[in-house]
Amino acid sequence: MAHHETLAAQQFIITLEAPGCAQHAAPGNFVHLQCDSQHAMRRPFSIMRSNAGTGCIQVLFKTVGVGSSELALRKPGDRLQCLGPVGNSFSLHDNTTHPLLLGGGVGIPPMIFMAETLKEKSGLQPLVIMGSEIPFPFPTRPSKILVPDMPKGVIAAMPLLDDWGIASRLTSLQGYPGCYTGFVHELAELWFQRLDHSTRRGVQVFACGPVRMLEAVAAFCRQHGLPCQVCLEEFMACAVGGCAGCVVPYRENGRVVAMKRVCVDGPVFDATNIF
Ligand SMILES: Cc1cc2nc3c(=O)[nH]c(=O)nc-3n(C[C@H](O)[C@H](O)[C@H](O)COP(=O)(O)OP(=O)(O)OC[C@H]3O[C@@H](n4cnc5c(N)ncnc54)[C@H](O)[C@@H]3O)c2cc1C
Ligand code: FES
Repeated sequence: MAHHETLAAQQFIITLEAPGCAQHAAPGNFVHLQCDSQHAMRRPFSIMRSNAGTGCIQVLFKTVGVGSSELALRKPGDRLQCLGPVGNSFSLHDNTTHPLLLGGGVGIPPMIFMAETLKEKSGLQPLVIMGSEIPFPFPTRPSKILVPDMPKGVIAAMPLLDDWGIASRLTSLQGYPGCYTGFVHELAELWFQRLDHSTRRGVQVFACGPVRMLEAVAAFCRQHGLPCQVCLEEFMACAVGGCAGCVVPYRENGRVVAMKRVCVDGPVFDATNIF
């Protein structure tokens, strides 16, 4: 481990020297990470940033149980086994002009990776909407980037994205300053409703967060006929496709046609195949 940063509400960012992983990582991929050198226990965490030049990746996590709590105690210089990048990644459609990235809670990290990648490789200007019911894992600040069609007063942004020139807006039910009071899909809907018809046709949605958030996002996209990819953060054991501990029902035309393993068939799926 190269760096360890403690954030509000038991959230942490760790930087890992993992050159092979950094070389090949794409947004949506995750690592299966050993949390404690004494135990073989591994846990899945999305890759938030990856730098092939420095050979480092970053992971943002919050503690919920024994594994993540052990991981929070690791220090720079500690050696951890890291399997990755694991899983598939988000894919941009050719006709997308307005990528809309929606992240909730620990679903925020892959959206940061996706935003950076879109900006660097596609030249498109994504809009990132992130929600949290605990303090955001970064200090928020009023955005320098104007987003037309946003409700008045919704100005809080993630400074890192703002500095990259990527528009972001934040939501919470907790009344944090400058944030929209509500859920990410509700702010997305307000933004979308104000777009003209030709702009609407270029919107593609990418989402990661709790299942109830993804269900709501999928419903919003279904209603407006928007393409939507969701990144699932299921329970996992082996993370290599061998144990079936992470399977989800896979739908076609609304009917369950198969069970898919989130670790190797996903974690990114077309929303219509899951919800
Ligand atoms: C592909 C993927 C990417 C992920 N990315 C991140 C990330 O970037 N940052 C992050 O903080 N977390 C992420 N997670 C969730 C993270 O893996 C779990 O929080 C972690 O494994 C919990 O381990 P633990 O030993 O601390 O908790 P456990 O002791 O295993 O569980 C503690 C509590 O958390 C619940 N829990 C555990 N895992 C999950 C889960 N996946 N979903 C919902 N509830 C769960 C359990 O039911 C239990 O109540 C990701 C999960 C997946 C599958
Ligand atoms: S976690 Fe074992 S098959 Fe996915």
